[in-house]
Amino acid sequence: MERNTFILPDQDQAKRRTRTRPESVYDLFTLTENARGIGSGKYYYLRTYGCQANVRDGETISGMLEMMGFQKSEKPEEADVLVFNTCAVRRAAEERVLGEIGSLKGLKRKHPEKVICICGCMAQEEAVVDEILKGYPQVDIIFGTHNIYHFPELLTGRLSDGERRVEVFSEEGKVIENLPVQRSQTCKGFVNIMYGCNKFCTYCIVPYTRGKERSRRKEDIIAEIRELKAKNFKEVILLGQNVNAYGKDLGEEDGFTELLKASAETGIDRIRFYTSHPRDYSPTTIDAMKEYPNIMPSLHLPVQSGSDEVLRRMARGYTADSYKKLYDEMKSKIPGITFSTDIIVGFPGETDEQFRKTLDLADYCKFDLAYTFVYSPRSGTPAAKMPDDTPAEVKKERLQILNEKIGRYANANNQQYMGKVLQVLCEGSSKKKADVYSGYSAENKLVNFTGPAGLKDQIVNVEITGIHSYSLDGKVVL
Ligand code: 5AD
Ligand code: SF4
Repeated sequence: MERNTFILPDQDQAKRRTRTRPESVYDLFTLTENARGIGSGKYYYLRTYGCQANVRDGETISGMLEMMGFQKSEKPEEADVLVFNTCAVRRAAEERVLGEIGSLKGLKRKHPEKVICICGCMAQEEAVVDEILKGYPQVDIIFGTHNIYHFPELLTGRLSDGERRVEVFSEEGKVIENLPVQRSQTCKGFVNIMYGCNKFCTYCIVPYTRGKERSRRKEDIIAEIRELKAKNFKEVILLGQNVNAYGKDLGEEDGFTELLKASAETGIDRIRFYTSHPRDYSPTTIDAMKEYPNIMPSLHLPVQSGSDEVLRRMARGYTADSYKKLYDEMKSKIPGITFSTDIIVGFPGETDEQFRKTLDLADYCKFDLAYTFVYSPRSGTPAAKMPDDTPAEVKKERLQILNEKIGRYANANNQQYMGKVLQVLCEGSSKKKADVYSGYSAENKLVNFTGPAGLKDQIVNVEITGIHSYSLDGKVVL
């Protein structure tokens, strides 16, 4: 039976949570004979926005397209298929995507055979899909986060009959284990450990766009890590919106710590994980980080605000004090650990006094890095209906004050590394200069350094010779 080519997102359905356990399937993804050769001699362009989960989805999309015979191109005008893998966390990111797609109108008019696709979190939003359908006739295919595996089918269909296709499922499906992957790096690999989020922080669209929490089975995750290690990867980054909840849906009490230990025991050189939630942090995880030297001493722990009242309205489930306690415990137990965080300013109703509490928390935690944002209302989330009378200029000013403070601590923290030798995983040439390498130290510091040829993908000792707020300079010591 032919599938309906117009399935639109439904946010009411997307927020439902059922108790059914996630089911892992190993044969759901298939590629027809016809799809296999369809991209031969053709090019694709992929643009990914947003978080690492999206980057990992982008690697799956590349994997599928390359199985179909397409080759990657960095130039949209050269590509036959253009894919925009989008982020919905803030309106500014959405506007950037819409602007970019808007600018493709001329290209599409000249070359109507080019196929323009939108996927990722924006595709899961009712209002956005409506906006695209009405105002962006150049878009040929829209598919969501739950049916990435249908993309080859949607694309071959579009190529054969020229009809527009919209297929967005609002309910998460099974955990699909046999999707192809074309990894973007050769030394560090993203490994999904779970999908979705059940936290429903009141500002956040993710629980609606990514569905309920579904954990992958531990043995599948470990097999992926082993495979990466066998291919000489030095680092794995375990991914989930809220990794500390890993395994809860499988009925495991302390699933994340168990997984972390099993990952460490594979012997891979480096393990990191994103993103943690302060509320679910288990003390056993801290012990594991202390016990295994290949679990890196750096943690991204989003705090969002330093005001208890704002945290309550965000439904974060912790207080500034409990966050600080967790922070102190980690600092004292794990030598040299560095901290990064996410902070939102201008949440609806945030007063000057409440903002000052965020500054106080920044003074206390002296973060190495913070991703800071002005609150952006997301349609369908509870916070979008909360009264918000703070003028935009005041919010912008708060962001500047906060960024300035964060930058000062970042710089001060980095002074301790001057003259020291750090272990850096060399990712290749730095963005700015081809004769300078770049990579991350165990502490997750970005290091630009000089050294002899042939260091790419190796962990090397680098003596630090220069300090900036968000990077270090150095030279290899052999
Ligand atoms: N507005 C601003 N920032 C947001 N984030 C999530 N939702 C919003 C929003 N509506 C931020 C949070 C989160 C990070 C990924 O993005 O800080 O941790
Ligand atoms: Fe969004 Fe909160 Fe889930 Fe993070 S934990 S994805 S901020 S709802």
